[in-house]
Amino acid sequence: MKGIRKVFPGVVGLDNASLSVEKGEVHILLGENGAGKSTLVKVLAGAYERDGGSIVMEGRDLPRITPKIAQENGISSIYQELNLVRPLSAAENIFLGREPVNKNIRCHLDWNKLYKDAAEILERLNIHINPKTKIQDLGIAEQQMVEVAKSLSQKSKIIVMDEPTAVLTEKEIDNLFQIVKQIKAEGISIIYISHRLEEFERIGDRITVMRDGKTITTVDVNKVAIPGLIKLMVGRELKEQYPEVHKKTGNYILEVSHLWRANVLKDISFGVKSGEILGIAGLVGSGRTELARAVFGADPITSGEIKIDGKKAVVNSPYKAIQCGIGFVTEDRKQQGLVLQMSVAHNMTLADLQNYSRHTKLMLKKEYSVVREYVNKLGIRTPSIDQRVINLSGGNQQKVVLAKWMLSRSRIYIFDEPTRGIDVGSKAEVYALMNSLVEAGAGIIMISSDLPEILGMSDRILVMCRGEILGELKAEEATQEKILYYAAGGGKYIG
Ligand SMILES: Nc1ncnc2c1ncn2[C@@H]1O[C@H](COP(=O)(O)OP(=O)(O)OP(=O)(O)O)[C@@H](O)[C@H]1O
Ligand SMILES: [Mg+2]
Repeated sequence: MKGIRKVFPGVVGLDNASLSVEKGEVHILLGENGAGKSTLVKVLAGAYERDGGSIVMEGRDLPRITPKIAQENGISSIYQELNLVRPLSAAENIFLGREPVNKNIRCHLDWNKLYKDAAEILERLNIHINPKTKIQDLGIAEQQMVEVAKSLSQKSKIIVMDEPTAVLTEKEIDNLFQIVKQIKAEGISIIYISHRLEEFERIGDRITVMRDGKTITTVDVNKVAIPGLIKLMVGRELKEQYPEVHKKTGNYILEVSHLWRANVLKDISFGVKSGEILGIAGLVGSGRTELARAVFGADPITSGEIKIDGKKAVVNSPYKAIQCGIGFVTEDRKQQGLVLQMSVAHNMTLADLQNYSRHTKLMLKKEYSVVREYVNKLGIRTPSIDQRVINLSGGNQQKVVLAKWMLSRSRIYIFDEPTRGIDVGSKAEVYALMNSLVEAGAGIIMISSDLPEILGMSDRILVMCRGEILGELKAEEATQEKILYYAAGGGKYIG
C-alpha cells in the first residue's frame, strides 16, 4: 500500500500512509487511538474506498477494492468491532455467503455439510464451540474465535486481525497465538493490530508505527525495545503507567451479601469502601460480568442482599442502580455501552439526563459545555461533539463510555475491562481519572483480564472461578501466580 489517503467529513483519516507486507510474516500496526490503523486495514479490505494511493498485491495493481474483490484476492479481516450475525449459528456465520448447497435439491442448503465443515475448522483451531450455537448465546471471546475460524475458512493470503486479543484472557491468547503461528507457517501473512506491547515480541516479525494518519516507520521487532516504540508512537516519553496515590479509605459504600443467581453466581459476599479500588480477576466465564450485571440490577438475582451506605437497597433495574449512584462501564461497548447512531454529546449525558433537561427539553448549552470539558479532559479525538459515535475509532468510543459514567455523578463505579482498546498513553490517563474518582470518595470495582493492570491499580483483589469468589488478596501480597492459582480453581477445585 503506497501513499494511501482517506478523508472523512471533517477528518483526514489517512494521509500518505504506506505499508508493505511480506509473505508469511506477522506485521504489526501500532499507534495511538485514532492514528488510522483500522482505517488503513479497512481500505485494504474494501470496506472503505480510498481517496488516493495505490495497492499492489503479488505484483498486480488493485485499482479499486470492494469487499468482494478483497475476498477474491484472499484478503480477509477480523474487525475490531465484531461483525457476526447474532441470531445465526456459529456454522452459518463461518460460511456466510459461501454456504454449501444441497446437490439434489437446488437452492437448499446442505445443513449436514455446513455443520460438519464448521466443526472441522473449529476443531483444527482447538476451539470448543458447538457449531449450532447461536452467536448471541456465545461470550465475546468465543465470538472472536468464530471470527478467526471464519477468516481461516476462506483460503486467505492475508488475514487482518484488528485487536483480536482485547477481549481474550491469557489462556485464549495463548491459543490464538498458537493458531497465528500455525497459519503463518502455511505462508499466510497477518496484519496484526494491538495495544498490548508485550505481545509483539511473542508473535511479530515487523512493526509499522502510525501517527496522525501517517505511517512513521517500519522496524524489525527484535531491533527495537518497548520504550523506543512508545516514543515513536506518541512522539514523547511516557511517565509512570500506574500512578501512586495516597488514598484515604472510608466506610463501606457497597456491601453485597450472599448473592445467588441460579447456575451463575454462588453465595457472593464482598464490600467496597469509599476511596477504594477493588479488582476482580478471573477467567472469561468465571462470572465476573454476571456479578457486575447482578449488582447493577441488569439481571435478576435469586437471593441475596445489597446495602448502600449501610442501608438495604433494592436494585432491581439499571434505572434503580443509577438512582442509587451506581455506574457501570460494560465490557461490550458496541452492544451495551453506546447508542452508536447518536452523537458524542448525547451519549455522554445519557446516564444523567435529568441534570441536562428542563421539563421535556434538553438544555443544549449546558450539555455542550460539560461535554466539551470532558472531551478535552479525556483527549477524545473527534472532529466535533456532534459527530456520531459510530464514526469514532474504537479507543475513542471507549473514552466516550467512560466519560458518560464520570458525568453521571455516581459514587460506586463498576468498570468491566475499562481500558479495552485504549492505547498506552490514554491508559495512563484513564488510571489517573480512576484515581481522581476514588480520591473524591467514590468506590470502584474494576474487572479486568489484564493482570498487570489489576495488580497496578487495585487495593484489594477478588478472584472468581465458576461463579464464586475463591480468593481475596491484598495489594501488597498479590502476584500474577497467586491470581492465576485461584482463577484456575485453587483451594477448592484443585489442590
Ligand atoms: N467512518 C468514519 N467516519 C468519520 N471519521 C472516521 C470514520 N472512521 C474513522 N474515522 C476517523 O479516522 C481517524 C482514524 O480512525 P481509526 O479507527 O483508523 O483509528 P485507530 O488507529 O484504529 O484507533 P483505535 O486504536 O482507537 O482503534 C479517527 O480520527 C476517526 O475518528
Ligand atoms: Mg482501531
